[in-house]
Amino acid sequence: MGVIRIDLGKDSYDIVIRRGALYDAGFELDLDRKVLVVSDDGVPDEYGDVVMDAAREGFRMVFRAGEANKSIDTLNEILTHMVRCGFDRHDCVVAVGGGISGDMAGFAASCYMRGIDFYNIPTTVLSQVDSSVGGKTAINLGGVKNSVGAFHQPKKVLIDPDVVSTLPPRQVANGLAEALKMAFTFDADLFSLFLEGDVIGNLDAIIEKSILLKKVIVQLDEHEKGLRKVLNFGHTIGHGIEASLPAGTLFHGECVSLGMIPMCSESVRPALEKALERLGLPTRFSFDEDAVCEAISHDKKSTGDRISTVFVPEIGKYEFRDMGLNDIRALLPLIQK
Ligand SMILES: NC(=O)c1ccc[n+]([C@@H]2O[C@H](COP(=O)([O-])OP(=O)(O)OC[C@H]3O[C@@H](n4cnc5c(N)ncnc54)[C@H](O)[C@@H]3O)[C@@H](O)[C@H]2O)c1
Repeated sequence: MGVIRIDLGKDSYDIVIRRGALYDAGFELDLDRKVLVVSDDGVPDEYGDVVMDAAREGFRMVFRAGEANKSIDTLNEILTHMVRCGFDRHDCVVAVGGGISGDMAGFAASCYMRGIDFYNIPTTVLSQVDSSVGGKTAINLGGVKNSVGAFHQPKKVLIDPDVVSTLPPRQVANGLAEALKMAFTFDADLFSLFLEGDVIGNLDAIIEKSILLKKVIVQLDEHEKGLRKVLNFGHTIGHGIEASLPAGTLFHGECVSLGMIPMCSESVRPALEKALERLGLPTRFSFDEDAVCEAISHDKKSTGDRISTVFVPEIGKYEFRDMGLNDIRALLPLIQK
C-alpha cells in the first residue's frame, strides 16, 4: 500500500492506494475550485458525499447504472450540466464509481473546453485493478463498445480498498477477472495465487500488483501503438459476447473470462478454467455465434478481415496473432454451453 507513480512525462500522475484514502480526498486532490462529482446511481451516495464536502464548490451528476448508459446521451447530460454550472478550464471532474463512471467522467473531462483536470476514485474491484490506470476513456456508440473516446490521463487516482466492501460478490469476482488476465499473460507467481491461494484475503496485494503490471505496459506504450494491446487479451471474443447478449446479461469481466479460454494453448487451458471457477466466473455460456462474429467484425482491432488478437502459449507469456474471423468462429464451441 502506498503511492505508485505513473511516469508519462508531463502527464505523469500518482496512484494512491490506502485503506481510508477516500476520506483524504480533501488534501490529496485540488478541490479548491468547481468540482463535478460523477457517479452512477448504484454507487453508495456516501462516497460521493465525501468529495462534495471537501470541494470548495461541489456539483453532482448521477446517471443510471449500466453499460447502456455509457452513452452519448449521458455524455451530453454531463457536459450540459457543466456548461450550465459555469465550469471553466480551471475546474475539474471527479469520478466516484466503477469503470463506467470513470470512462464517462474521464471522457467528459477530456473534451470539455478541450480538456480539463480529471481525478478518479474507483470504487469497484475492476476499476481499482484496471480501468482507473492508463487514461483510456470512452463511451459506446452505434452498438459498438468504447467506439468513441480519448486518451486523457487523470491528475491523480485515489484507491481505497475499503470501499469495495459494499460490492456484491459477483461484482468482486467480475473485477478480479481483469487482474487474473494480467497475471495469466505476465506474472506466473500472481497467477498461482489465483490458482491455489486465498484470493479475497490478498485483495490489497492483488490490486497493487495489477497496477504495477499495468504501469509498466502503459509507460512503454501510452497510446496503444503496440505492446498495450496485450491488455486486450480475452477482449476480442469477450466484447463480441458482451455485444451479442441483451444488456446486463453478463458483466464485462465475465465476458472477458469466457473470451480468454479459447485464446490459450490446450496445455494451460485447464489451469485457467480452474482459476476462473474458483472465483465463480463463467467458463461456458449459451450465446449466438453469428451475433458474436458480427460484433467481432466491428472490432476496433480489426484491419480488413484480419483481427489482431493476443494468445497465451504458457502461463505468464503472450504472443500477438492476426486471425481471420473464421479462425475465431472455430474456437467458439470451446465456451458454448
Ligand atoms: N478505461 C479502461 O482502461 C477500461 C478497462 C477495463 C474496463 N473498462 C470499462 O469499465 C466498465 C466496467 O466497469 P465496472 O465493472 O466497474 O462496472 P460499473 O462501473 O458498471 O460498476 C458495477 C456496478 O457496481 C456499482 N458500484 C460501484 N461501486 C460500488 C460500491 N463500492 N459498492 C456497491 N456498488 C458499487 C455500480 O453502480 C454498478 O452498478 C466497462 O464499461 C468497461 O468497458 C475500461
